Amino acid sequence: MLCSHFDAGRCRSCTWLDRAYAEQLAEKQRLVEELLAGHPGTSWRPPVASAQLGVRNKAKMVVSGTADAPTLGILNPLGAGVDLRDCPLHTPGLQAALPELAAFVTLAALAPYDLATRRGELKHLLVTESPDRELMVRFVLRSQEPVARIRKHLPALRERLPSVAVVSVNLQPEHKAVLEGEREIVLTDRESLRMRVGGADGLTLHLRPQSFFQTNTAMAAELYRLARAWAEEVAPRTVWDLYCGVGGFALSLAGPGREVTGIEISQEAVASAEQTRDEAGLSGVRFEVGDATAYAEGRAAPPDLVVVNPPRRGLGPQLSGWLDASGVRHVLYSSCNAQTLARDLEAMPSLRPVRGQLLDMFPNTAHYEVLVLLERL
Ligand SMILES: C[S@@+](CC[C@H](N)C(=O)[O-])C[C@H]1O[C@@H](n2cnc3c(N)ncnc32)[C@H](O)[C@@H]1O
Repeated sequence: MLCSHFDAGRCRSCTWLDRAYAEQLAEKQRLVEELLAGHPGTSWRPPVASAQLGVRNKAKMVVSGTADAPTLGILNPLGAGVDLRDCPLHTPGLQAALPELAAFVTLAALAPYDLATRRGELKHLLVTESPDRELMVRFVLRSQEPVARIRKHLPALRERLPSVAVVSVNLQPEHKAVLEGEREIVLTDRESLRMRVGGADGLTLHLRPQSFFQTNTAMAAELYRLARAWAEEVAPRTVWDLYCGVGGFALSLAGPGREVTGIEISQEAVASAEQTRDEAGLSGVRFEVGDATAYAEGRAAPPDLVVVNPPRRGLGPQLSGWLDASGVRHVLYSSCNAQTLARDLEAMPSLRPVRGQLLDMFPNTAHYEVLVLLERL
């Protein structure tokens, strides 16, 4: 028994949990090779395995029930809360923190938002744990009404949970199924979590609220390590990291005599990336807030290497078409959705995948990350 919630049918988010791990990996490898079967020149390395449980560094909990008896987890098909505070996919630190946060909901009298009646305040709890066991806790609220109470009781929370480093409130006033809103109010002196990825030669990436981070830190470290190793073979002088988030690829690829530009739509992610760059004293790396496609289309010439790591929707025809026509010699495409990757590759006939690597970012599900090196024909 890996998960009592899965066994009881309360939560089936880990759709493949009842399959042996080796079988999960083999099936993912088979699926990605099938999707990219039109590119027979791709040399595949064996997949990078993850630990099966305790790896998810971010808990995205829907809060339901009452302030006195909150549930942290998901909603069932009838709209009732299912409590998953002990979800074994989360890191042990998150599993230990969530009951304390549930107690805080009661202490600060944070009434969970009720979808049916549109009453209540607290919609979601978003909690991230860093590899050094520090926590970022974000309360997604309908309005500012409970903010004073959260502030008042914060010392009690920090006493119970000394690992809390960053606390913020995110305002999501609309009645729609989105995780978070645009406005963030940080309640602690610290505004970012330090995410150490990789070993001695790794990076410590700053992560501010409203910034994306790969959910499985060990796989993220391996992804950036591989990208750096593959990029070194190409020895680019100029690099773009499109969809750069907090700069994991851009900062891993920085080096003497190399110019790296990261482009990202989230201002907070760019602020995080710049903070990491400045702290690490990395020169030759700059970040810009903007749309990846618009940035590429606004440049007269491509760099030596383009790294792309888009959301699940992929690059789309416009950016794929631009890359294909641009003359860029190498592209590193990191994808969490091999279906959109395969579609984008069809739109880039001049760029041939030569190497592929599956990394099991999302164990127990049908999802995975795949890194592909493309070379101009
Ligand atoms: C899969 S994440 C990758 C982040 C980063 N490469 C990393 O390793 O953490 C995709 C990123 O694309 C950003 N994004 C979404 N749409 C974008 C757009 N049109 N232009 C630039 N960035 C965008 C998101 O904010 C998110 O940070």
